[in-house]
Amino acid sequence: MPQSPLPGVTIIDHPLVRVKVTQLRDARTGSVDFRARLNELATLMVFEATRDLATKPIRVRTPLAETEGAVLARPIVVAPILRAGLGLVEGMLDLLPDVSVAHIGMFRNEETRLPESYYFKAPAHLADADVILVDPMLATGGSATSAVGRLKDAGAKSIRFVCLVSCQAGVKQLRGAHPDVPIFTAALDPELDARAYIVPGLGDAGDRYFGTI
Ligand code: PRP
Ligand code: URA
Repeated sequence: MPQSPLPGVTIIDHPLVRVKVTQLRDARTGSVDFRARLNELATLMVFEATRDLATKPIRVRTPLAETEGAVLARPIVVAPILRAGLGLVEGMLDLLPDVSVAHIGMFRNEETRLPESYYFKAPAHLADADVILVDPMLATGGSATSAVGRLKDAGAKSIRFVCLVSCQAGVKQLRGAHPDVPIFTAALDPELDARAYIVPGLGDAGDRYFGTI
C-alpha cells in the first residue's frame, strides 16, 4: 500500500477501492448505488486502517489440538460524523462486530464554512479504546478537527481518521491541529472550489447518500 508523501497520511490505493471511488464520483450514480458502494468501501478501508491494531495472545482448542490465537488488545469505537459518516458505519461493523458506536452531530455552516455541533454521544470507555473517526469527506478539515477535539475532551487517547476523499487543505488543517491522529484516505484530490467543495471530489456526500439533493 503506497504511503502518500504527506507524513501521517495513508492513501489506500487498492484497485477495488479505486474502482468503487470512481463509481461514487460519477454524477450519474443514484442514491441506491451510492449507498451500496459507500458500504463496500467502508469494509475495504477498515481492513487497511486497522492493520496496526495491537492484539494479545489467547489459547484456543481446535478439533485436533490446542494452539495460540489472538484477540484485539483494546476495545474499538467507531465514531461517525453525522450525517454522511453514518454511511460508513454498517460496512465497518461487518468486519468489527464487537464495537461501540459514538455519534458526533455536526454540519458545516454554508456561509462561514465552519462546523456547527448539534450532538455528541460516546461510550464511557473512550479512554481505553481505539477510536475510528469516520466521514467520507475531508474538505477544509474543520469538521474532522472539531470532532477529534470533542473526542479528546471526552477522554479519547487513540484516534485514527478514515475518509474517502480528502484534499491538501483538509489534511494540513487536521494534521496541524492533531498530529497524533493518522489519516487514511482513498483519494487525495487537488483543491477546494469557492464554496469549499473538494474538486473533483464527489459532490455533497450526505445529500447523495440520503437522497436530499
Ligand atoms: C460534510 C462532510 C464533512 C464535512 C467536510 O458534511 O460529510 O462532515 O462536510 O467539510 P469540512 O472538512 O470543510 O469541514 P456536511 O457539513 O455537509 O453535513 P452532512 O453530512 O449533514 O451533509
Ligand atoms: N462536504 C461534502 O459533502 N463534499 C465536499 O466536497 C465538501 C464538504
